[in-house]
Amino acid sequence: MRKNIQMFQPSIGREEVEAVVGVLRGKTLTDETGSGAYVKKFEEAYAKYVGVKYAVAVSSGTAALHAALMLADVGSGDEVIVPSFTQTSTAEAVALTGAKPVFADINPKTYCLDPKSVEEKVTSKTRAIVPVHVYGLMAEMEEINEIAREHDIFVIEHACQAHGAELKGSKAGTYGDLACFSFNALSVITTGEGGMITTNRRDYAEELQSIRVHGFGRYGSSERLGHNYKMTEVAAALGYYQLQKLPRLLEARRKNAQILTSLLEGIGRLVPPEEPPGYRHAWSLYTVRLRGGKVGERNKLVLKLNASGIQTKVFYQPPIHMAPYYRRKYGIRPRSQPNTEAASRQVFSLPCHQGLGEEDFKYMAQKLKKLIR
Ligand SMILES: Cc1ncc(COP(=O)(O)O)c(C=O)c1O
Repeated sequence: MRKNIQMFQPSIGREEVEAVVGVLRGKTLTDETGSGAYVKKFEEAYAKYVGVKYAVAVSSGTAALHAALMLADVGSGDEVIVPSFTQTSTAEAVALTGAKPVFADINPKTYCLDPKSVEEKVTSKTRAIVPVHVYGLMAEMEEINEIAREHDIFVIEHACQAHGAELKGSKAGTYGDLACFSFNALSVITTGEGGMITTNRRDYAEELQSIRVHGFGRYGSSERLGHNYKMTEVAAALGYYQLQKLPRLLEARRKNAQILTSLLEGIGRLVPPEEPPGYRHAWSLYTVRLRGGKVGERNKLVLKLNASGIQTKVFYQPPIHMAPYYRRKYGIRPRSQPNTEAASRQVFSLPCHQGLGEEDFKYMAQKLKKLIR
């Protein structure tokens, strides 16, 4: 029988359904101040989980990034260092402020920003660095924080895919001045669409609460520029109960990633993902590389895996600096980010969510063995 192994599978149970129905039966689907009862409950629980003082819920991960950059007062004439090997919203949020995204290259083993490349990109205009924890593995935060301290630059952790990831025992969200998370439909825990910003500074948390509601102050008029980035009570109710499940979901993914790696090791040119010493991967995406592969060869392989019932996706192609809008707007040359461009040609992600078992992974390994010579 043909398999149907999907890449993502939300884990929604009775608690989530009852909480959402409870909100729907009540009077407040979204609190107009942005700080409804469930939003507050979710924020408190999320801050405690991460190990920071404050969390501010917003409507998406992209909204979280944009709000964080607005808080950092990033704007026209400024530069923000970002990786290109990530989802487009990383650069988009920067462009929306009027600042220029400056792309730095990645470490080819971890797919996260290479601190050396970051250092080379710093100028007198650099206002912030946005390290992305790609696929759920944290970036080299200590080195990046060191560069930021030296040059007095803001650090905004882009932890959209990294709920529960750790570096030296501290969670994603505790290293930057601010950190942004996503609860979109592809996240390990989801609210459909949703985001969160974490920080240890009370003034930042209060400013972000204002930014998410049009920059309103105490009297409901705009004290600063903001946006409508409120999280709904429906989403927050869902998120609160999803968060209770996060440790269990991460454990399942961890176990699955270990099984997959042990089955894939030794298959021709396939390079399984790494978890360097001191790091705890969140495995929100299990991504392998076809060593030395050309883009056409990788794409054919992905098509064949999908045809065999193994949902396989490529994150990220093209990398952001090669996308038409960014190339045109910033006059970017191809081959300016060699590690990013090679990864973009060679990687693909395989399913590893909590709903899969050993049989599924054996099937995946068997297909891959057959397809890769
Ligand atoms: C790397 C990366 N960037 C940005 C986002 C954007 O988040 P959202 O879809 O919530 O706006 C995501 C979401 O998963 C992501 O993984």
